[in-house]
Amino acid sequence: MVMHRVKHSTRRARHARRKNCKLTIIAATFVAAVWMIYQTVFNSTMMDKVNRKNIEELPKCNFCIRNFAMRLKSYQDEDYAMADLRNCRPITCVPPEDYYIPSTVPVNMFDFKPLLSPSEPCERAMAAIIIVHTRSESWETRAHWRESNKAFLDSRPDIKLYFIIGRSENSTAWNLTTEEGKVHDDIIAYDFLEQNNTSPSKTAMMLRWFSEHCSNARFLVKVNDGTYYNPQKLLYALEDLPPSMTFAGKMNYHHEVKRNSADEEAVFENLYPYPYWPNYISGQLYIISSDAVTTLWTAAPYVLTVPLEDAWMTILAQGAGVIRNFIPDRFK
Ligand SMILES: *[C@@H]1O[C@H](CO)[C@@H](O)[C@H](O)[C@H]1NC(C)=O
Ligand SMILES: *[C@@H]1O[C@H](CO)[C@@H](O)[C@H](O)[C@H]1NC(C)=O
Ligand SMILES: *[C@@H]1O[C@H](CO)[C@@H](O)[C@H](O)[C@H]1NC(C)=O
Repeated sequence: MVMHRVKHSTRRARHARRKNCKLTIIAATFVAAVWMIYQTVFNSTMMDKVNRKNIEELPKCNFCIRNFAMRLKSYQDEDYAMADLRNCRPITCVPPEDYYIPSTVPVNMFDFKPLLSPSEPCERAMAAIIIVHTRSESWETRAHWRESNKAFLDSRPDIKLYFIIGRSENSTAWNLTTEEGKVHDDIIAYDFLEQNNTSPSKTAMMLRWFSEHCSNARFLVKVNDGTYYNPQKLLYALEDLPPSMTFAGKMNYHHEVKRNSADEEAVFENLYPYPYWPNYISGQLYIISSDAVTTLWTAAPYVLTVPLEDAWMTILAQGAGVIRNFIPDRFK
């Protein structure tokens, strides 16, 4: 009985050894196969890299490398591998981090001559200066703004509302606007040709004007002339926001760049090659603390513009180290 059991266990041990041996062979084969596949892929990747003297010459991939959120980091490698496989030029969905580093030499001049400026814009410490982006010829729009904000502004002498415009090419129209500026004393104008509300020049001149004339005001509020806000909610926001190095507004998440020239917000690849915008603060209404305005204006000449002022402001803020506060759209 004992013998039998020993014999049996010896047989089992032999059997186990054979099985182990088989497993070892299988494992070794597997490792070798993996190594060979790795070598093949790695070498061909290396070859690809060598052959790709100029990656710019490859056709652009019809997908982008998903680099927009840290938790999706793993997708980046997959996407790069796919680009390698398809032998196409990879492009990240949003700019890589070094995109935001300001240039060491000025890339924008922003040296337009001042044409109109309110006479005593910030004679005392103001809570906020609201600057409405409008066009020279939009007389009716400005009249409407003055009227609809009158009660609010009368109740808050520490808040002022001004308009910013460029020069109109039509000298009859421009002369009318100049007269209007003298009468109402609320128009800021610089000598660049009138542009629409997506123009970064107008925004840059707003930053400059505020830095030079109103840096003792606590906040700059930028509004597009087609946007209406609830003054009470705006006041709440001004009370809630951190008073220093703040750039706040409603967030535009994961917006695709429009490339169709029929679209008002179209931006072509030569000016911005990435398929998506970084999450940016909407230009309809945003609030910037005084110190951040100065910081942004100082950096503005060194950060290449994109023709959407709000997307540019976010790029500028990233480059200048101004913190963005995303507040829900609660002004309407
Ligand atoms: C506009 O004003 C300028 C300067 O006052 C004047 O020389 C010019 O003739 C005016 N243009 C028109 C079309 O009225
Ligand atoms: C110039 O502006 C005046 C005043 O708004 C307008 O009557 C005139 O038609 C404009 N001229 C052109 C060429 O647009
Ligand atoms: C807005 O102005 C910019 C600069 O002048 C111009 O490139 C762009 O085409 C304009 N957009 C619209 C919709 O007029």
